[in-house]
Amino acid sequence: MIQRLEVLEGAGVTHVPKGRKLPDTPPVAQPPSAVPEGGTVAGGTADGDTADGGCATRRADALAEVAREVSACTRCTELARARTQTVFGAGSPCARLVFCGEAPGADEDRIGQPFVGRAGQLLTDIIVKGMKMRREDVYILNILRCRPPGNRNPLPVEAAACREFLDRQLEIIQPDYICCLGSVAAQNLLDTTESIGRLRGRVHDYRGIPVVCTYHPAYLLRNPSAKRSVWEDVQMLMAEMEGGNDECRNSNDE
Ligand code: URA
Repeated sequence: MIQRLEVLEGAGVTHVPKGRKLPDTPPVAQPPSAVPEGGTVAGGTADGDTADGGCATRRADALAEVAREVSACTRCTELARARTQTVFGAGSPCARLVFCGEAPGADEDRIGQPFVGRAGQLLTDIIVKGMKMRREDVYILNILRCRPPGNRNPLPVEAAACREFLDRQLEIIQPDYICCLGSVAAQNLLDTTESIGRLRGRVHDYRGIPVVCTYHPAYLLRNPSAKRSVWEDVQMLMAEMEGGNDECRNSNDE
C-alpha cells in the first residue's frame, strides 16, 4: 500500500476522495516538473470505474497531457529560460471553483505548485477558514505558468503566449465559478482594462462561467484593511455558489 501511494504521489495524485478506489496505476506518467499539475485528485481506477463515471480520471488525464506540453513550452522565451520549473496548477479536476492568480513567485518556481508562499497561506485561509472548503477541492492556477523575473507583472505578450493553456485547463475542469485574484488575473481573463476596484462587487462572464473578482492575497498582506472588501467578495461568491451540488458535473456526457 505504501509503495502504491508513493507511486501515485510521484504522479501528482495527492488526494483520493473518500469512497473512491486508488488508481491501479498513475493516470499518466509525468516528468518531475509536471508533477502537481494534472490535478491532485485521483478520480478512480485506471479504467474509469468510479461513482462519477470516470470523470475525475478523464479530466486528470487531460490535464496531465496539457501539463506535459506546458513543461516543454518556451513560448515566453525570457521567462522559460529563467524558470526552475513550470507551475501548472493544482487541485481537483472536478473543482466547482477555480481561483486564478497572476504568475508564480519565487516559492512557487522553486516548489512547482501555485500559491505556496505567504500569499498562498492567506489564500488557504480564505478557502478553509472563510469558505469552509478544502484547498484540495478547489483548483488553483495562474495567468502565467512561468515566473516573471523579480516578480514583475506579466507582459501582454507573455499572457498571450500562455493563454491557450489557461483556456484549455478551464475547458477541462469546467468549473461552475471562477474567482480572479487581483487586477492582472481579472484583466487578462476578462480581457478588460477596468481596475480591480471597479471589477469587484459584480459577477462577470468567462465563456458562460460566472466570474467574481477580488484583491490579490499579496495585496492583502500589504494592505490588511482590504480584508473587509475581500470578505464581502467571498460572501458574494459563496451566495452565488449556494444551492449547487458537489458532484463531478457532466460526468456522463464527456
Ligand atoms: N501569486 C500569484 O499570483 N500566483 C502564485 O502562484 C503565487 C503568488
